[in-house]
Amino acid sequence: MILVIDFGSQYNQLIARRVRENRVYCRIEPPDITAAEVAAMKPDGIILSGGPSSIYEDESPQMDTAVLEMGIPILGICYGMQFLALAMGGEVTRSEKREYGRADLIIREKGSLLKDVRDTRCWMSHGDSIETLPRGFSAIALTRNTKIAAAENPEKKIYGLQFHPEVAHTPDGVKIMRRFIFDVCGCEPSWTMKKFAADSIEKIREKVGDKKVILGLSGGVDSSVTASLVQAAIGSRLTCVFIDNGLLRENEALDLKKTFKKNIASKIRLVSAKRKFLSALSKVTDPEKKRKIIGRIFVDVFEAEAQKIKGVEFLAQGTIYPDVIESKSAHGGPSAVIKSHHNVGGLPERMKLKLIEPLNSLFKDEVRELGLELGLDEGLIWRHPFPGPGLAIRIMGAVTQKKLSLLRKVDAILLDEIEKNKYGRKLWQAFAVLLPIKTVGVMGDKRTYDHIAAIRAVTSKDAMTADWARLPHDLLAEISNRIINEVDGINRAVYDITSKPPGTIEWE
Ligand code: XMP
Repeated sequence: MILVIDFGSQYNQLIARRVRENRVYCRIEPPDITAAEVAAMKPDGIILSGGPSSIYEDESPQMDTAVLEMGIPILGICYGMQFLALAMGGEVTRSEKREYGRADLIIREKGSLLKDVRDTRCWMSHGDSIETLPRGFSAIALTRNTKIAAAENPEKKIYGLQFHPEVAHTPDGVKIMRRFIFDVCGCEPSWTMKKFAADSIEKIREKVGDKKVILGLSGGVDSSVTASLVQAAIGSRLTCVFIDNGLLRENEALDLKKTFKKNIASKIRLVSAKRKFLSALSKVTDPEKKRKIIGRIFVDVFEAEAQKIKGVEFLAQGTIYPDVIESKSAHGGPSAVIKSHHNVGGLPERMKLKLIEPLNSLFKDEVRELGLELGLDEGLIWRHPFPGPGLAIRIMGAVTQKKLSLLRKVDAILLDEIEKNKYGRKLWQAFAVLLPIKTVGVMGDKRTYDHIAAIRAVTSKDAMTADWARLPHDLLAEISNRIINEVDGINRAVYDITSKPPGTIEWE
């Protein structure tokens, strides 16, 4: 097992992911972990992550330095490297200028870590730099701006990289990490999703004890996989709640019920709250207002439902890692709030439910792998994400029953064509957007004056960035033909060719 100490870098989950991709189990723990706790976990190696702070800031994260003396192999990355250099008697200088971006890595000595690589590119993101290494360490690589870009103390099995090996911008980063994991730490590539599932189930069982859990089901893969894990852990003490907010796609509630019954054998409560949502949304046009209203009503309805279940103490959520990053801003982090993803913010504290988020270290593709491991249907596993606020954020302007019904028809045609042409798995998401403006057309020799449907199809690995899908023109032509012919009220279809950034995936 490799233990990652989280000094707060945005990339720390990526470190864990790289380790797990090499089939080695990996846990992430906060820096306040004690040496005794580390000893109890028996890690084969420790990676100290990067962090946003300067080592000299008052609030900069610290850890028990006794961990550095336990004889466990250690790899410090960026802040982690500076932390261990300083703690072991080296010197770190504070610099006003940050070195950020690509740099050419010049290798001086291959040592244990750089065996498989030649001079290569690496990704830097730091302000402070190591000036002098502690005794017993030698510098093995440099860049133009960083004289100690990699260092090692083979005797103590302690290594440091000033650059980030975990990001894609360091092309040989994984090779370097592998040398640490396999050669230095002696790990075996034997960890699998099966083990992750077994461990999660065990952890949930331990945490919940004999109490009850409630889970809000969205119909997507994340909440379904979460439900499946919790169900496996505590059986009938799990109750799943699905709220029909009236903003769902065609047949969605029914399909969900069927799929759920087949895949997850727990109790499900279907709550119809269409009217509440739609009346609160009437005449609201501002995207953030829509999101906030939907979020608030969701919480009210969910809370009322939770109160009907006696003795429920836990809330299970399908939060995955990208949600955690993107919602950081919602919790007071430095980045700007782009959209209020209400289902990440969670429920109000007054409900006093303790959270269970077994997927919060996983990326979407890992969640899918886990779902397959748990035996869920492929159809469910490969469902495209669907936002909590549903079609309300795909209808520009005010949401009405009429517009919902139009959009549902358009969306069903689009998804049918995507499925028929086997594009489902190639895309992150495909959906339709209804524009509130009308344009002129001609159908059967008659003038039409109707709404526009926009088609959005994107590819992505984790929704943090996305590109518009290069769907074949013939497929787009068929989609457009069918929409305009089959949906009365739409006379024009356009295709969205914006990537993220600068666009977002959803239009609102
Ligand atoms: P954006 O539009 O922010 O979307 O680029 C990124 C991914 O998140 C989905 N999305 C949401 N999912 N609740 C959700 O569960 C939300 O409020 C929400 N808003 C956007 C979106 O569909 C895309 O996959």
